[in-house]
Amino acid sequence: MTTSETTDFDTRYGSETRTVTLRVNGKDVTREVPTRTTLADFLRDDLDLVSVHLGCEHGVCGCCTVLLDGGSVRSCLMLAVQAQGHEIETVESLSADQNNLHPIQEAFAEEQGLQCGFCTPAMVLRTKEILADGQERTDDEVRHEISGILCRCTGYQNIINAVQNAGRKLRCGASGGCCGGDEAKGS
Ligand code: FES
Ligand code: FES
Repeated sequence: MTTSETTDFDTRYGSETRTVTLRVNGKDVTREVPTRTTLADFLRDDLDLVSVHLGCEHGVCGCCTVLLDGGSVRSCLMLAVQAQGHEIETVESLSADQNNLHPIQEAFAEEQGLQCGFCTPAMVLRTKEILADGQERTDDEVRHEISGILCRCTGYQNIINAVQNAGRKLRCGASGGCCGGDEAKGS
Protein backbone atom coordinates (compact mmCIF):
# COMPACT_ATOMS: atom_id res chain seq x y z
CA MET A 1 0.00 0.00 0.00
CA THR A 2 1.34 3.47 -0.82
CA THR A 3 0.89 6.37 1.58
CA SER A 4 -1.44 8.08 -0.94
CA GLU A 5 -3.98 5.23 -0.80
CA THR A 6 -6.96 5.75 1.47
CA THR A 7 -7.87 2.90 3.82
CA ASP A 8 -11.15 2.22 5.60
CA PHE A 9 -9.38 3.30 8.77
CA ASP A 10 -8.46 6.62 7.15
CA THR A 11 -12.04 7.13 6.05
CA ARG A 12 -13.36 6.54 9.57
CA TYR A 13 -10.68 8.28 11.61
CA GLY A 14 -9.06 10.68 9.14
CA SER A 15 -5.58 10.77 7.61
CA GLU A 16 -4.54 14.26 8.65
CA THR A 17 -0.87 14.68 9.52
CA ARG A 18 0.95 17.24 11.61
CA THR A 19 4.55 18.14 12.35
CA VAL A 20 5.60 17.46 15.93
CA THR A 21 8.78 18.56 17.66
CA LEU A 22 9.72 17.13 21.01
CA ARG A 23 12.82 16.27 22.97
CA VAL A 24 13.39 12.55 23.33
CA ASN A 25 16.19 11.19 25.50
CA GLY A 26 18.04 14.48 25.29
CA LYS A 27 17.72 15.01 21.53
CA ASP A 28 15.33 17.25 19.63
CA VAL A 29 13.19 15.28 17.21
CA THR A 30 10.89 16.60 14.48
CA ARG A 31 8.63 14.30 12.46
CA GLU A 32 5.49 14.48 10.34
CA VAL A 33 2.96 12.09 11.91
CA PRO A 34 -0.68 11.15 11.38
CA THR A 35 -2.59 12.95 14.12
CA ARG A 36 -4.04 9.62 15.33
CA THR A 37 -0.57 8.16 16.05
CA THR A 38 -0.16 7.29 19.72
CA LEU A 39 2.96 8.39 21.54
CA ALA A 40 3.78 4.70 22.08
CA ASP A 41 3.65 3.91 18.36
CA PHE A 42 5.62 7.04 17.56
CA LEU A 43 8.40 6.10 19.98
CA ARG A 44 8.53 2.46 18.85
CA ASP A 45 7.92 2.76 15.12
CA ASP A 46 9.34 6.16 14.20
CA LEU A 47 12.21 6.36 16.69
CA ASP A 48 12.91 2.63 17.20
CA LEU A 49 12.71 2.96 21.00
CA VAL A 50 11.44 -0.56 21.51
CA SER A 51 11.80 -0.53 25.30
CA VAL A 52 8.32 1.00 25.20
CA HIS A 53 6.24 -2.15 25.59
CA LEU A 54 2.64 -2.42 24.53
CA GLY A 55 0.53 -4.82 26.57
CA CYS A 56 -3.14 -3.95 26.85
CA GLU A 57 -3.12 -0.71 24.77
CA HIS A 58 -6.04 0.39 26.96
CA GLY A 59 -4.34 2.17 29.85
CA VAL A 60 -4.56 -0.79 32.23
CA CYS A 61 -1.19 -2.58 32.40
CA GLY A 62 1.16 0.42 32.58
CA CYS A 63 3.88 -1.38 30.59
CA CYS A 64 3.99 1.47 28.05
CA THR A 65 4.94 3.99 30.76
CA VAL A 66 7.44 6.70 29.77
CA LEU A 67 8.41 9.93 31.51
CA LEU A 68 7.00 13.20 30.18
CA ASP A 69 8.75 16.18 31.76
CA GLY A 70 9.81 13.79 34.53
CA GLY A 71 6.36 12.40 35.29
CA SER A 72 5.08 8.99 34.21
CA VAL A 73 2.43 8.75 31.49
CA ARG A 74 0.88 5.82 29.69
CA SER A 75 2.10 6.32 26.15
CA CYS A 76 -0.67 4.16 24.67
CA LEU A 77 -3.26 6.67 25.89
CA MET A 78 -1.52 9.77 24.58
CA LEU A 79 -1.18 11.00 21.02
CA ALA A 80 2.23 11.94 19.67
CA VAL A 81 0.90 15.39 18.81
CA GLN A 82 -0.03 15.91 22.47
CA ALA A 83 3.65 15.57 23.37
CA GLN A 84 4.52 18.58 21.19
CA GLY A 85 7.16 20.68 22.95
CA HIS A 86 7.60 18.25 25.84
CA GLU A 87 10.55 16.18 27.02
CA ILE A 88 10.22 12.40 26.86
CA GLU A 89 12.46 9.85 28.55
CA THR A 90 12.52 6.15 27.77
CA VAL A 91 14.73 3.60 29.45
CA GLU A 92 17.20 3.85 26.55
CA SER A 93 18.29 7.18 28.04
CA LEU A 94 19.61 5.60 31.24
CA SER A 95 22.67 3.72 30.03
CA ALA A 96 24.77 3.52 26.90
CA ASP A 97 25.27 -0.24 27.16
CA GLN A 98 24.98 -3.20 29.54
CA ASN A 99 28.42 -2.50 31.04
CA ASN A 100 27.40 0.96 32.21
CA LEU A 101 24.06 0.48 33.87
CA HIS A 102 22.22 3.22 35.69
CA PRO A 103 22.07 2.62 39.49
CA ILE A 104 18.37 1.80 39.19
CA GLN A 105 19.10 -0.84 36.56
CA GLU A 106 21.91 -2.23 38.74
CA ALA A 107 19.49 -2.48 41.65
CA PHE A 108 16.90 -4.37 39.58
CA ALA A 109 19.61 -6.81 38.46
CA GLU A 110 20.98 -7.28 41.99
CA GLU A 111 17.58 -7.87 43.56
CA GLN A 112 16.29 -10.02 40.68
CA GLY A 113 13.51 -7.48 40.22
CA LEU A 114 12.67 -8.87 36.81
CA GLN A 115 11.95 -12.15 35.12
CA CYS A 116 10.60 -11.86 31.57
CA GLY A 117 11.40 -8.14 31.59
CA PHE A 118 8.21 -7.01 29.90
CA CYS A 119 7.22 -4.60 32.68
CA THR A 120 10.80 -3.67 33.55
CA PRO A 121 11.34 -0.52 31.45
CA ALA A 122 8.15 0.92 32.91
CA MET A 123 9.13 -0.13 36.46
CA VAL A 124 12.60 1.40 36.07
CA LEU A 125 11.23 4.71 34.78
CA ARG A 126 8.58 4.85 37.51
CA THR A 127 11.34 4.17 40.04
CA LYS A 128 13.36 7.07 38.62
CA GLU A 129 10.35 9.32 39.01
CA ILE A 130 9.48 8.38 42.58
CA LEU A 131 13.07 8.38 43.86
CA ALA A 132 13.63 11.93 42.62
CA ASP A 133 12.56 13.15 46.07
CA GLY A 134 15.51 11.37 47.75
CA GLN A 135 13.27 9.85 50.45
CA GLU A 136 13.41 6.36 51.95
CA ARG A 137 10.33 4.21 51.45
CA THR A 138 8.63 1.36 53.27
CA ASP A 139 7.48 -1.75 51.43
CA ASP A 140 3.87 -0.53 51.54
CA GLU A 141 4.80 2.88 50.15
CA VAL A 142 6.67 1.33 47.23
CA ARG A 143 3.83 -1.15 46.65
CA HIS A 144 1.38 1.74 46.38
CA GLU A 145 3.65 3.83 44.13
CA ILE A 146 4.27 1.07 41.59
CA SER A 147 0.69 -0.20 41.66
CA GLY A 148 -0.08 1.34 38.26
CA ILE A 149 2.22 -1.12 36.51
CA LEU A 150 1.28 -4.80 36.33
CA CYS A 151 3.95 -7.48 36.59
CA ARG A 152 2.86 -11.01 35.75
CA CYS A 153 6.09 -12.68 36.87
CA THR A 154 7.87 -11.50 39.97
CA GLY A 155 5.29 -11.41 42.75
CA TYR A 156 6.46 -7.80 43.30
CA GLN A 157 8.60 -8.31 46.44
CA ASN A 158 11.85 -8.33 44.47
CA ILE A 159 10.76 -5.18 42.63
CA ILE A 160 10.07 -3.51 45.97
CA ASN A 161 13.53 -4.58 47.16
CA ALA A 162 15.02 -3.20 43.93
CA VAL A 163 13.34 0.19 44.37
CA GLN A 164 14.64 0.44 47.95
CA ASN A 165 18.12 -0.69 46.87
CA ALA A 166 18.08 1.89 44.05
CA GLY A 167 17.12 4.56 46.57
CA ARG A 168 20.14 3.69 48.71
CA LYS A 169 22.43 3.77 45.69
CA LEU A 170 21.12 7.15 44.56
CA ARG A 171 21.32 8.65 48.04
CA CYS A 172 24.68 7.19 49.02
CA GLY A 173 26.46 6.38 45.77
CA ALA A 174 27.34 2.87 44.64
CA SER A 175 30.44 2.71 46.85
CA GLY A 176 29.03 4.13 50.04
CA GLY A 177 29.38 7.88 49.54
CA CYS A 178 27.73 10.03 52.18
CA CYS A 179 27.21 7.37 54.88
CA GLY A 180 30.27 5.25 54.29
CA GLY A 181 28.02 2.52 52.96
CA ASP A 182 26.24 1.93 56.30
CA GLU A 183 22.83 2.68 54.85
CA ALA A 184 23.56 0.64 51.73
CA LYS A 185 24.50 -2.29 53.99
CA GLY A 186 21.28 -1.86 55.94
CA SER A 187 22.98 -1.15 59.31
S1 FES B 1 -0.11 -0.80 26.95
FE1 FES B 1 -0.49 1.16 27.79
S2 FES B 1 -1.39 0.77 29.72
FE2 FES B 1 -1.15 -1.23 28.82
S1 FES C 1 9.08 -9.29 34.89
FE1 FES C 1 7.63 -10.27 33.57
S2 FES C 1 5.96 -8.89 33.59
FE2 FES C 1 7.27 -8.12 35.12
